[in-house]
Order: sequence, then structure tokens, then C-alpha cells
Amino acid sequence: MYKNAKWIKPSRHFGDVCPAFVKKFELADVGIVNQATMTVTAAGVYEAYLNGNRVGDYILAPGWTSAKRLQCQEYTITELLQENNTLIITVGKGWYASPIPGWLNDDEKLARQNLTCGIIANIAINGIETIKTDATWRVQESPVRFSELYDGEYYDATIANTALEPVQEYAGLETKFVPQQGEKICEIDRLIPCEIITTPKNERVIDFGQNLTGYIQLNLPKSTKNGDKIQVSFAEVLDKDGNFYNANYRGAKSLLTYVCCGGEQSYKPKFTFFGFRYARLDEFPENLATENLADIFTAISVHSDMNRTGWLESANPLLNRLFENVVWGQKGNFLDIPTDCPQRDERLGWTGDAQVFVKTATYNFDVEKFFTKWLADLALEQLPNGAVQHVIPDAMNGAAGSAAWGDAATICPWQIYLTYGNKAILANQYDSMCKWVHFIKTSTKEQFLWIGGTHYGDWLSLDKSEDGAHNSTTRHDFIASAFYVHSLEITIKTGKVLGKKTVKHEHLHQNAIKAFREKFPTYNTQTEHVLAVQFNLSDNPQQTADDLAKKIIQDGSQLKTGFVGTPYLLHVLSRYGHADLAYTLLLREEYPSWLYPVTKGATTIWERWDSIKPNGDMQTTDMNSFNHYAYGAVADWVYSVAAGIQTIEDFPGFAKVRIAPQPDERLGWLSAKLETKHGTISVKWQYISGKLRYDILTPVPAEVVIGKQNYSVEKGSYTFWQAK
Ligand code: BGC
Repeated sequence: MYKNAKWIKPSRHFGDVCPAFVKKFELADVGIVNQATMTVTAAGVYEAYLNGNRVGDYILAPGWTSAKRLQCQEYTITELLQENNTLIITVGKGWYASPIPGWLNDDEKLARQNLTCGIIANIAINGIETIKTDATWRVQESPVRFSELYDGEYYDATIANTALEPVQEYAGLETKFVPQQGEKICEIDRLIPCEIITTPKNERVIDFGQNLTGYIQLNLPKSTKNGDKIQVSFAEVLDKDGNFYNANYRGAKSLLTYVCCGGEQSYKPKFTFFGFRYARLDEFPENLATENLADIFTAISVHSDMNRTGWLESANPLLNRLFENVVWGQKGNFLDIPTDCPQRDERLGWTGDAQVFVKTATYNFDVEKFFTKWLADLALEQLPNGAVQHVIPDAMNGAAGSAAWGDAATICPWQIYLTYGNKAILANQYDSMCKWVHFIKTSTKEQFLWIGGTHYGDWLSLDKSEDGAHNSTTRHDFIASAFYVHSLEITIKTGKVLGKKTVKHEHLHQNAIKAFREKFPTYNTQTEHVLAVQFNLSDNPQQTADDLAKKIIQDGSQLKTGFVGTPYLLHVLSRYGHADLAYTLLLREEYPSWLYPVTKGATTIWERWDSIKPNGDMQTTDMNSFNHYAYGAVADWVYSVAAGIQTIEDFPGFAKVRIAPQPDERLGWLSAKLETKHGTISVKWQYISGKLRYDILTPVPAEVVIGKQNYSVEKGSYTFWQAK
């Protein structure tokens, strides 16, 4: 990729100031430029300008991968070239040098601060490498005086034309260059303020009406004076008194500071992002105070550039808002990698969260490329013993091996295969799957089960004492052994698709089910019941599902599940004749439920069932994100059961579809639309004058199930009527 280009960095340490690498060059001898491309990557995140024009629209390039590989972006720059050219590539700390995660000790933080950002780039004109990074480049201090992912950015627009200094060629990162594999990160939505609030504490706060991930743009008027300073803090929520609240950001300062030059200008951060709905003006120049703030501030959402593929709508406005919240949760957390949350000092690629949400993710957006990249990193980061890291890319020094988190290694690729029908993902990930189940086999204390180890359990479930513990009473060995069976099953199915020998895994699988049944003959919590049915572990699934239904009703028709049990809860109920109870849970508005946060004004999915408690108090600051997609996994039940749009394993990628809606009169009507590689599938059911009407559109042959009737239909649109 780089024949002669060298890594370059400033020849002195710039501290927090972001370096801007500069190259001036002439093209007098080149002749006609038919095609010019520039290939760039960085230790840090970069932004390139050629002759004053931004090169490409990639935000936070080169993105975040395992340290073992580094994506390089190639841009066509034919139209941007002139005879005399100035190329400026500014570099921020990004994921490479920002202190990540937020709980690094002082030595680790210092080590990060001492890292120097650098770049490697070349320009090929008509296929010939013409310009390349080397010692002839120069570097200067940019107006970005500070930029870190958690703490925000400080930009001083009064600083211009700082001295050009020498650069130094250096060894750069010990890594493998790869072309861009994931979706690029882009600016997606622009939102104008919906309200300017003065809080009881007299804070001036701008409400953008939507919790999102990205940043704000300032559009400043002529009256702006040189040296005027604007400082903004961000928050996802206001507290119960209506005051600005961001204690839940923990160590992430999330501050934006802009020192203005004189006159009309606009600014948006270059190398950071925030998770926010509200912006508080901590400092704002007097002379701009009379301006209309709504003209000055715009919020910009930033995430991976995925195509939207799924839409849900119903007669229930709260449920519709929940669907929107699920989509915004995905937008806010699919920023190159699937993160747990975008605001506090974490923002990591937690495997468990991704596993829980992957099915919903595939309905809402085309995430094939997105997961192909992240899963490649998962495989690269996997430890030699097969343990899967808790976070991908590994930012936690090798911490690995939790059940239901590590199982992302099997669950995610299998789901991507089912939805998009591309065997390549299975071929890419098969070794990783085998290593994961081998890891379990070799680390358990009892054969055929997964006993022992350290696990997160049914994270944030409600079947625990009220002492604020994150963990649940669902047995960890139970969860671990159940997911072991599930991962074995997926590994076997994958092996079969790929034409591999699967006998050993099948032997393990049969024994694992047997051992599970002997070890865990009874089930305690809601989640234990759910897993026993979902993973075919119960020898009497009807009875177990009935027991689950009874238990939920005894619990006050309330769910108690956490990250592990929640995604499957409604599926297990509806599969065994308890769809009415599934709808009761879905439509419940009181705490705990999916709609409860909506009644509290949520515009994304909360981390906890009660991130804001019924009395308006906030949950503990140590773990309280208002943009955590995990519980949004309920949307996959709405798409695949309530609306009934299901993949068929033998026809992956919706080459054929099963449409088996399960309506409920309390909802009135529901419609779902899904763009697949084969065309649009849509389903709408509605209760009309005592009857049920179904409108179905399928671009492929479909197995339609209406009530207890099965129909095999060719592609086309169909209407069915059913007596209630
Ligand atoms: C994250 C979770 C994650 C968990 C591990 C938390 O800090 O935000 O979503 O899965 O740690 O259990």
C-alpha cells in the first residue's frame, strides 16, 4: 500500500496540541492528471485538506480496529489538485492516544499522553506514487489545542500560521495496513434546537430534542469578536428539578471550548464526539447574548454510514417512540464499532451488548459490512487459548472469557449470515467460533458444562437485592453452560454450511445437553426459564414456558430479566402460547417495562430499567447511561413475531421468507417494512370491524402463517382476512 512513504511525526512532542502536517508541491511536470488518489492513515485520527478543500467526508478516520491492523482510506483527489498545491493533514489523539478506558491508572494515563501522533500517506497520480510522507514534510501547531475522546476539544481560532517545523521519519505503528473494511463514519443528521431553557439554577441550556452521538456546530455572526470564548458542556437528561445533569458521564469531561476569531465563522469539533441531548453554555460572550441561539447552534449526529432497512409503526404512540429510541440507540452506538454507550468514560465494544442486540441491528440497518469488520477484529484479538475479549478492540488489557459476552463470537456471525445470506462471514469466523467453544471445553471444572470462570451474569436484572449490585441471582454456571450449548449448536450449523467435519462438536453438543439437564433440573429465575427454553435445554419446553408465564404473573406481570434473558423473553412466551402475556409486557407503561422510560421522556434506550426512578431520582452515577442499546433488543421480537418477518435457515438472506404475524387487539394495528437484498417485505395487520386484516408484500416465495393456517405463496402482495 505504501511503497516508499514513511511514517512521520513532529520532531518534538507537541503535548496536547494537535499537529498539522504540511506538504507543498507543484505538479508542473506531471502532464495531464487522469486519476489521482491519496491513501492515508494515522496513529490517531486525521482530517486532510488539499488546497483548502476537505478531502473526503470521513469523520474520525481511520476508525478503530485491533492494534494488529490499521485501516487506510483511499480518496480520489483528481478534482482537488492544482499546479501549486498545499496539503495539510491534522491529527488528533483519537482511540490511539486518548486515555481509554476511563479507569486507567496514572502510569497508564501518562504512557498514553506520551504517545506521539503521526501519519503515513501517499498520492498516486496516474498510478505513479508522486508524493509521499517523508522528512521533506513540515509540521505546525494547529488551532486544535486539545482533543480527546472523553474530555472533548479546545479550539483556538485566533491561532493561525504557526511556525513550520521539521518532521521526523520513524518506525510508526507495528501493524498491518488494510484497506477500509467497515462503513465509513459520517455526519448523518443535523438537528436544530427545539428549546432554549433557563434552568432553576439559572443555567442556559439548549435542548436538541433528541439524545444523539456527535457534536455541535457553531455558526457565529459578524458581530463575533476576536478572542470571544464559548464553552459548552453536554448532558443527556435534566434532573427532576429541570437542572442540567451529567454526573453519569463519570470521568468524561465532555467539554467543548472555542476561542473565536473576529467576524462570521463556523466551527465544529474535529477529533471528538459527545453523547448528548442538551448543551449548557458555561461561557458565552456578552456581545452575542442577544443573538438568536437557535441560529448559532446545530447538533450533528455522527455514526457509521449504514443504510436504513427496517421500519416499525403501530397504533400506539408510546410504542412508536420506543421503536424510534431503538433506532437512535443503534445510530448513537454504531460509531465504527458497536459500543455500550457513547457518553461516559467507556464507549467500548462490549461483546455482550453487541450479541444481545445484533438481531435487532440487522432489521433496522444494513450492518453486514459493519459487523464483518468488527468480527474480524474479534477474531484477531482472541487470546491463544480461545478466550474472547470482553471488549473489541481490546482496550482492557486482555480481560476475556465471560459467558454471553464471548459468545458474540458465534452469535453475531451466525445472525449476519442468516440476514444477508453471505457465507463469507461464516468462513471468516469459523476458526474463531471453534476456538471459543474449545476455550470453554478446556477451562470448565466439569466436563460438558461450563462451571467456574468469571462472568457478568444476567447483568442489571431485577432479581437481585436492592443493594445496587449489578448482578443477578440467575446462576452464572447455568448461564455459562446454557450459552456453551448454544455456541456449540451454532458452530455445528456453521460447520455444516461450510462443509466441515462436525462430528466432534456434535458429540460435545449432545453430551452438553445431557449434562445440563442433569446438573440443572429446575429453574429459579425468569432468565433461567427463558434460557432453558430458548436453547432447547428443557426436556419439556411447554411446561417450562408455562412455568415462566406463571412466574411472571406472580411477579406482578413484570419482567425481571437483565441483559442475558431480556432478548429472548417475549420469544419464549409467544412460541409456547403466551403471546398475550408477551404483549402485556411489551405494552406495560409502569416501571419496570420498555415503555416506562418513554413515559419519562426517553429518546434513546436506557442502560437500566430505572435509569430515572419513578420518583424522578437518578440511578447511581457509576453506571447510568441513557443511550445503551441492549434492552432495545425487544425490537427483534416486534419485527419477527408481532409482525412475523422471519429468516429461514435453509434460505438465508431472505431468499425465501416466513411470515407468521401474531397480532393483539390491544395494539390495534402494526406495520413492518424490511428492505432485503431481494427486495421489500412488508406486513401490516389491523383490527377492522371485528375482523383481522393482513396486508403482506413479499419479493420472494413465502411461507405465510395466518392463525393456524399455512400458505405457500409466490412473490407478490396478498390480503388475508381472519375472524377474531
Ligand atoms: C457496560 C456494559 C457491559 C458491562 C459488562 C458495563 O460497564 O456499560 O454494557 O456489558 O460493563 O458487564
